Amino acid sequence: MVPNAGPAKGRSLNAVKPDIDAKLFAAAEHARNRAYAPYSNYSVGAAILADDGNIYSGCNVENAAYPIGNCAEASAIAAMISGGARRIERVYVTGRGVIPVTPCGGCRQRLREFAAPDTVIVCHGVEGEPLVTSLGELLPHSFGPDHLTEKMGFELSALLHIRSLLPDSHIDAIIVLGSGLSGFASTLSDAATIPYHELEGFPGQSGRGHGVSGHGSDLVVGTLAGKRVAVLTGREHYYENGNAAAMRPALETLAALGAKTLILTNAAGSLDESIRPGDLMVLCDHINYAGMNPLIGEPSDRRFVNMVNCYDPALRQLSAGIAGRLGISLTEGVYLWYSGPSFETMAEIQMAIRLGANAVGMSTVPETIIARMLGLNVWACSAITNMGAGLSNETISHEHTKAMAVEGAAKLTKIIPALVEAL
Ligand code: HPA
Repeated sequence: MVPNAGPAKGRSLNAVKPDIDAKLFAAAEHARNRAYAPYSNYSVGAAILADDGNIYSGCNVENAAYPIGNCAEASAIAAMISGGARRIERVYVTGRGVIPVTPCGGCRQRLREFAAPDTVIVCHGVEGEPLVTSLGELLPHSFGPDHLTEKMGFELSALLHIRSLLPDSHIDAIIVLGSGLSGFASTLSDAATIPYHELEGFPGQSGRGHGVSGHGSDLVVGTLAGKRVAVLTGREHYYENGNAAAMRPALETLAALGAKTLILTNAAGSLDESIRPGDLMVLCDHINYAGMNPLIGEPSDRRFVNMVNCYDPALRQLSAGIAGRLGISLTEGVYLWYSGPSFETMAEIQMAIRLGANAVGMSTVPETIIARMLGLNVWACSAITNMGAGLSNETISHEHTKAMAVEGAAKLTKIIPALVEAL
């Protein structure tokens, strides 16, 4: 094996990082020395500097059935993925001969999956100056993950953005905060805040919703009770612009990051004398009285979701035990979804009681339906802010809802971490 020329001297300052280039060059050459290329006798090494700061390398591996062989870049990418990194920051490719070894067409596309157009790619032959180029130069007008957003059915760009910002973007649980509850997000540690407007498809991105006072507009990802959680500090309601599926892109994105559990909170009016303002009510079931369904228009058979036990019995049992230990009273009940945004009439409240509901609210149900389609286990809890219209003398208003949610929020702040810990 002929030793290769040294690391890139480069054609622009931006293209040269002496320390890193020396390491990348050494790693690529080390891999090249181990290449398995008995048929072409053309050994290639590749080294990738990834977003986790590590260098991943690989060599070409040929096969008697020629098309089955592996390029060095593909081997290095596989090492990077199995090492846990996801983004490529710099690439070295070394090969023998006079001409700098450039990645083949297929490998340019492979690199493109994980690299940006301005990612520097240094290509070495044994003699002469290396070619210092970029992915954009090697593969202009490329085809990438963004092209598949529509086909995937959710906002892949949001997923990629979250991944690019967070070194570890795995999520165990999603938490949606209802009216007056957005302060809960500050209890997370190691938290990263990403405003919804940076996340395509997240609440408010249709441009038609105007947000709701008392609701946040950030995604906060952090650690809670030893688990990684994604907190949606505010939701988009059906009543904002008539889109019952408004929460689907956010939930689908976070489910794609690994979440298995969805924790929903809301503010609600009680229909039950034994459930008072300031109390919590865990949902055991719901009535979709708004009659709207977020899965209308979903083309696949996934739309036929079984809604029996849609509020996970095991999670409900878990929360009952936790509340008991904490000395917090936690009643279970049926939640009825009215579209809002107007509050109910007294007659509507009487009807809801006759239908068997224990609380009324303007959210949660569409999110539960979407979540069940996605296979998420759902736990939902209402912070009761008032008695339903006509059941008490208090005047129902959004201001009153926000003010009264504080009491329920304090209890939820104790229950949710214990629930998350037990997941
Ligand atoms: N009705 C509907 N939604 C609500 C109520 C209510 O009485 N209170 C808080 N959210």
